[in-house]
Amino acid sequence: MTDAAVIVATLEVVAERRGDPGPDIYVRLFAAHPAFERLFVMDSNGDVRASMVQQGFEVILDYVGERLVAPQIISAERQRHDGYGVPEDLFDAFFVAMRDAFRDILGADWSPAMEREWAGLLAAFAAIR
Ligand code: HEM
Repeated sequence: MTDAAVIVATLEVVAERRGDPGPDIYVRLFAAHPAFERLFVMDSNGDVRASMVQQGFEVILDYVGERLVAPQIISAERQRHDGYGVPEDLFDAFFVAMRDAFRDILGADWSPAMEREWAGLLAAFAAIR
């Protein structure tokens, strides 16, 4: 069971301190998976990258809240992204990059509860097929 308050609190502190964490997320994603950077070569104005961040936030908030659409979106996007050149097992790398960027932004304020809850959330997402 995810502790929604811990996840929501993380997102609130990130928003306060960093505003849009999109650039931090992509630095993390491309450091971990350099081959993915070239998939965005057509995204010259950054709209696709911004939409992914937006949908990532929506999925996380829905999953820890009402959970109306998150499992379906993750399942559908996991399959759709396979056609973009993102193997199903690497789709979760984006959520991992989000967590890692948030951990960087929070620095000393990243708590053991955050570490535990984000690990649980990422494991739950990875199990959605
Ligand atoms: C390693 C993980 C991921 C990579 C490398 C990746 C890559 C991409 C690429 C290259 C596109 C553009 C495809 C095209 O138009 O030809 C795209 C679109 C999109 N991705 Fe991802 N993606 C990843 C994970 C995710 C995740 C976790 C989500 C959200 C749950 C997501 C949501 C979207 C959305 C909503 C679009 C459409 C954006 C638009 O056209 O405005 N992606 N992705």
